[in-house]
Amino acid sequence: MTASRRALVTGASRGIGYAIAEALARRGYELVISARGVEGLRRAAESLRSAGASRVVVAPGDLRVREDVVRVVSSAIDALGGLEAVVMSYGNPTCEPCTLTEAGWEDWLEASSLYLASTATVLRLLVERNPVKASVILVSSATYLEPMAPLVVADVTRAGLVKLARLASRSYPEKLRVNVLLLGSYDTPGARATIEKLARRRGVDPEEVWRREVVGRSPLGRAGDPRELGELAASIIESTDYLSGAAILVDGLMTPCSP
Ligand SMILES: NC(=O)c1ccc[n+]([C@@H]2O[C@H](COP(=O)([O-])OP(=O)(O)OC[C@H]3O[C@@H](n4cnc5c(N)ncnc54)[C@H](OP(=O)(O)O)[C@@H]3O)[C@@H](O)[C@H]2O)c1
Repeated sequence: MTASRRALVTGASRGIGYAIAEALARRGYELVISARGVEGLRRAAESLRSAGASRVVVAPGDLRVREDVVRVVSSAIDALGGLEAVVMSYGNPTCEPCTLTEAGWEDWLEASSLYLASTATVLRLLVERNPVKASVILVSSATYLEPMAPLVVADVTRAGLVKLARLASRSYPEKLRVNVLLLGSYDTPGARATIEKLARRRGVDPEEVWRREVVGRSPLGRAGDPRELGELAASIIESTDYLSGAAILVDGLMTPCSP
């Protein structure tokens, strides 16, 4: 008898979340995919079925809204009967790119709910309601190590994900195995949109900003491909439980040596 392969992926209609869902689909997973937009989810579900997913259920919801998070996780567990894997990919704070002096009270509250309250709620629900142990991936950024001015709200807030992953994995080792991916720059619709906004604000060509601040920051001379990250995330999900509570740098060497 083959082991069950059932996963919930958030932020799954495009970008990093979709790429990880696609890698799981190629491995034959049953999937529940979530994001806010229903049309994007339907399109993603169709592609994931073609990629090999044995079943795809769509569960729309906003990670900033408690009731949505509870509904998405509960319905995923009910629909599939349990979750061996959960991937949390997120959106970006609405104000982004915004500096410390541009960000207001509501922006910090939004980021806290998007990254921290949502993740803590998902982990709690997995402990309380998921009948099997879940391997969880949290999608974060290498830039939290040295927050970048235009991403400061996201970077400072998601720094907490590293502690949350470790704490949850150590507290409930029989129910959870949580690892954080610290990304460099990947070519996704979200990353392109952020660069586009930055370029517009500076009155320069977006391609120039992409070349200088994305490609130019990696000694490898390229951005990451979401598909290579998808494969890596899927193999981490299925790897040894000795890899748990870890923060894993997947940044194309963008991060300098620490002092
Ligand atoms: N790409 C990179 O280089 C990079 C680097 C470091 C970190 N990250 C982080 O990785 C995550 C994913 O980035 P990405 O580049 O894949 O972004 P993306 O291309 O914009 O995709 C974001 C996905 O999340 C969904 N989403 C957005 N806001 C949401 C919300 N409030 N509730 C539920 N779902 C939501 C979107 O669908 P809907 O809009 O329909 O909800 C979409 O499916 C982000 O948190 C980003 O900061 C990305």
